[in-house]
Amino acid sequence: MKSLLIKNAHIVTATDQYEADIYVENETIHAIGKDLCASSSAAKAATQVIDAKGAYVFPGGIDAHTHMDLPFMGTSSSDDFESGTLAGLHGGTTTIIDFAIQTQGSSLNAALNQWHEKADGKSVGDYAFHMAVTDFNPKTRAEIKEIVEKKGISSFKVFMAYKGALMVDDRQIVELMEEVKKVGGMVIAHCENGDVVDHLIAENKAAGNTAPKYHVLSRPAVAEAEASGRFMDIAHVGKHPLYIVHMTCAEALDRVRENAKRDQKVFVETCVQYLVLDESVYFQEGFEGSKYVMSPPLRKKKDQDALWAGLKQGLVHTVATDHCPFCMEQKKMGLNDFSKIPNGAPGVEHRMELMFSEGVLKNRISLQKFVDVTSTAPARIFGLFPRKGTIAVGSDADLVIFDPKESHTLSVKSHHMKCDYSAYEGWKITGRVKTTILRGTVAVDQGKALVGKGFGKYLSRAGSGQNVE
Ligand code: URP
Ligand code: ZN
Ligand code: ZN
Repeated sequence: MKSLLIKNAHIVTATDQYEADIYVENETIHAIGKDLCASSSAAKAATQVIDAKGAYVFPGGIDAHTHMDLPFMGTSSSDDFESGTLAGLHGGTTTIIDFAIQTQGSSLNAALNQWHEKADGKSVGDYAFHMAVTDFNPKTRAEIKEIVEKKGISSFKVFMAYKGALMVDDRQIVELMEEVKKVGGMVIAHCENGDVVDHLIAENKAAGNTAPKYHVLSRPAVAEAEASGRFMDIAHVGKHPLYIVHMTCAEALDRVRENAKRDQKVFVETCVQYLVLDESVYFQEGFEGSKYVMSPPLRKKKDQDALWAGLKQGLVHTVATDHCPFCMEQKKMGLNDFSKIPNGAPGVEHRMELMFSEGVLKNRISLQKFVDVTSTAPARIFGLFPRKGTIAVGSDADLVIFDPKESHTLSVKSHHMKCDYSAYEGWKITGRVKTTILRGTVAVDQGKALVGKGFGKYLSRAGSGQNVE
């Protein structure tokens, strides 16, 4: 039997912090306590011992929004499940929830099979899927129960933008909600008013506006706020729980605040880039801004402040990345037309360290909130808790040993994501992942990967949005 003792850990959970040892047998945490060697002969005989003195020990990060190997806008995101999840492990993310996206005219099961082919036997980190429904019809409706009860997926995403490829209408949303509710699942949404966005894109193109900055100018905050409000209203009609992905702006958050007055279960995700980057990057000379073309786009500094406050106030529950990298050659598909720049940016590797450096060390969030939004809340909301998302006896031994003092510089030269630029080039941050442990195995130590292709396990999930406030 494989066993691991982590001594002198400063354990941080979403509710506590304390000094203790952690004893792991095989993949699971077996004991937590002071000086375990004195009280447990098994701990004393552990086959591997790590001294974590001076470091924090966090539960493994959960990134609830990634797109590995995603066919999108005429190309595919540049990280596959192997490279993307390994990059995540380097940055303390042990689990991702990716999106299996239905092709319009095809079935949900066909999409799910495709995503299993992409991930099974390849993913280095643990992974689960959300199902993205792009074509809700009687055939799709008939698949929902099986997807939840047999395939381990309890969250169904809709896109309110990207008309002609991914977007669904309101009738499809309300009917999907009705079906999903019957089997204890939740509908989640990309909220932008797709028709307004398409109108503004067409207007800019007609005026001969081609540069990357027209991406943000075609996707205003009001279009996001409108769709966010509409999504919440639709869900309120049937008393459905809901989750809004990648919220970016104060205007959308104000709709959430408004809805908090009525009895409605609303979960909100933002992504680290919306907290730390702003729209000024789109207005740089030349094609530089293409690196940040993502949807919704980066917003203003006041929106960053609103999102940080939203995290503190409990209106924003999770921080993901929407990791969807494209290399510069791919971005250049939109060199002469901003609307053809593939949407998405790299980030899965840096979420935990950025949230610590920019959030905890700048007193914007507490250590407990940091753990909650990067790990515990996504686990609870998406039916992975308590297997994932905490440090407790019986939980998977997914642990991050983190040096809170070490400074380092983010760069394309040192990151592990398969992308030929960094969205954070030259950023100096404090706090670094020293060791990432996945199910009791040291996966990455001091920047060295110790596990590889196929180490990750598929996680079946039940009950998204259930039994969680
Ligand atoms: O720009 C983005 N976000 N690309 C990925 C697809 C999506 O909208 O989440
Ligand atoms: Zn989206
Ligand atoms: Zn996305």
